[in-house]
Amino acid sequence: MPYYLTGSARYFVNCIYGFQYMIRFILNNKLIQTDDPPGTLLLDLIRYREYLTGTKIGCREGDCGACTVLTGEFTGGKVVYRPVTSCLTALGNVHQKHVVTIEGLNGEGLNFLQRVICEEGGTQCGFCTPGFIVSMTGFCLGDGEPTAARAVASVDGNICRCTGYKSIERALARVTGLLEGRAELVAAGAPTGVVAEPGAAGVGLDFLVKQGIVPAYFADIPGRLAELALQPNGVLHKGGRFLGGGTDLYVQQHAAMVGSELEFLSGRAEMKGIVETGGQCVIGGAATVTDMLESPIIRRAFPNFAAYARLISSTPIRNIATVAGNFVNASPIGDLSIFFLALETRLTLSNGLSRRELSLRNFFKGYKVLDKAPEEFIEKISFDLPATNELFHFEKVSKRTNLDIASVNTAMRVRVSEGRIVEGFISAGGVAAVPALLEGASGLLGGGRGLSGGRSPDALLVEEVVERAQAEISPISDVRGTSEYKRLLLGQLIKAHFLTLFPNLNAEDLL
Ligand SMILES: Cc1cc2nc3c(=O)[nH]c(=O)nc-3n(C[C@H](O)[C@H](O)[C@H](O)COP(=O)(O)OP(=O)(O)OC[C@H]3O[C@@H](n4cnc5c(N)ncnc54)[C@H](O)[C@@H]3O)c2cc1C
Ligand code: FES
Ligand code: FES
Repeated sequence: MPYYLTGSARYFVNCIYGFQYMIRFILNNKLIQTDDPPGTLLLDLIRYREYLTGTKIGCREGDCGACTVLTGEFTGGKVVYRPVTSCLTALGNVHQKHVVTIEGLNGEGLNFLQRVICEEGGTQCGFCTPGFIVSMTGFCLGDGEPTAARAVASVDGNICRCTGYKSIERALARVTGLLEGRAELVAAGAPTGVVAEPGAAGVGLDFLVKQGIVPAYFADIPGRLAELALQPNGVLHKGGRFLGGGTDLYVQQHAAMVGSELEFLSGRAEMKGIVETGGQCVIGGAATVTDMLESPIIRRAFPNFAAYARLISSTPIRNIATVAGNFVNASPIGDLSIFFLALETRLTLSNGLSRRELSLRNFFKGYKVLDKAPEEFIEKISFDLPATNELFHFEKVSKRTNLDIASVNTAMRVRVSEGRIVEGFISAGGVAAVPALLEGASGLLGGGRGLSGGRSPDALLVEEVVERAQAEISPISDVRGTSEYKRLLLGQLIKAHFLTLFPNLNAEDLL
């Protein structure tokens, strides 16, 4: 609805057109209540309604980070803040949350983060700097270890380096140095994060307020969010197009999304979470890549998952992008599709009345064609947790290492008994119209039926697997590489799987 309509005029238009949305959230220190369609972009409300123009518009596609804001919500009894790209975030996805823009971090003069960025020459031309400061604040509000590597990773969604990397790294090193002081307090037993009791700030927050990194009003936010949570919301689950994080939909259909009827899945508590049950891992249909990164079950099953995830988008995107959204987007190079295909993943689809199960492999029927009715959504994603004799590896090559989609990606899982491969699966993306499970190549590893006696993981087997894989792919030439290049890449990446999982293999024998 137009912003200029107020009071009874707004009510009148509501009655005629049936608008009945009411999104409530705290923007910096202010309560926002709006009946704008929940598909409206947060960025537009911030800039054009609230005139908070410190949040910039760069790409509007999630790539540059100029529009980064923090969203805070109750998770595990405390308010957890995460950077997100406001250009891809629908208002419905910030309902009952705390949204923080650069203006919400300003106190008197420059705060500590703004000062170090200036002093170290990291301000660049200035346009992207607010996004950097917001991401750095997210890093300070987190309770992970303040290492240099984590500090640098925290700005992986802020792509501009127009004055170079070193000035930003120097600023981040000073932030890390400051947080080490807080780490000592935590090591002495003090709580971190923004604790749930209204007004009772944790030492982590106290510390950040004292250092001028966040303003004092942050301490009241848990109480204010708790109050907001008690207010009813009947508008985000009315049916319509399913929306997870919006990181695909808002890039592809930006304008159409704003007024669309949307079914918001990310706010549905029952669809979040990653649990272990009877040897299976069950992931909710609204779980994000960050949820996977933070899950002890995933970390135990895939000790290298953090390294794989670093190759997938960026921190602000991973914070909102869902696993199910990656499957339904059906991109032939979807990283999560490739990761989960090698695990023989099963989906539970629901239409709200009944459920059915099918394998992820059979979900992909053709280019962007899925075995899914429009009214069906992915409720659960499940796979058998790897047994102790199972090995897994994921590889991705893209034109740029970070924040880029794959030219070719692939995963391999093998079961090993007495040094021999008795079962294995290889998936590959960018080499066919769909994310593919390479059935022929997997068959050589016993895929799905087991190999009696097993195969020795030697150069001969690798050669056979690569050859079989080549026979079952049909890559096309596009901006991510020629078909010949993609064939070559897949062959090399399959060798990389073997070399990683079987370190006794001699790389030279495979070349
Ligand atoms: C800057 C940027 C970088 C990216 N980098 C990568 C990358 O490196 N690798 C990669 O694989 N992808 C990448 N992506 C793509 C995207 O982030 C992922 O595909 C993401 O997982 C999509 O999830 P979402 O929740 O945001 O999907 P949405 O945009 O919310 O939805 C995508 C589709 O899925 C449907 N949907 C969502 N949830 C469900 C559900 N539970 N059941 C049924 N349908 C559902 C929607 O209706 C829609 O059709 C990137 C995107 C951006 C913007
Ligand atoms: S405007 Fe570039 S990430 Fe949002
Ligand atoms: S273009 Fe990003 S700061 Fe200059």
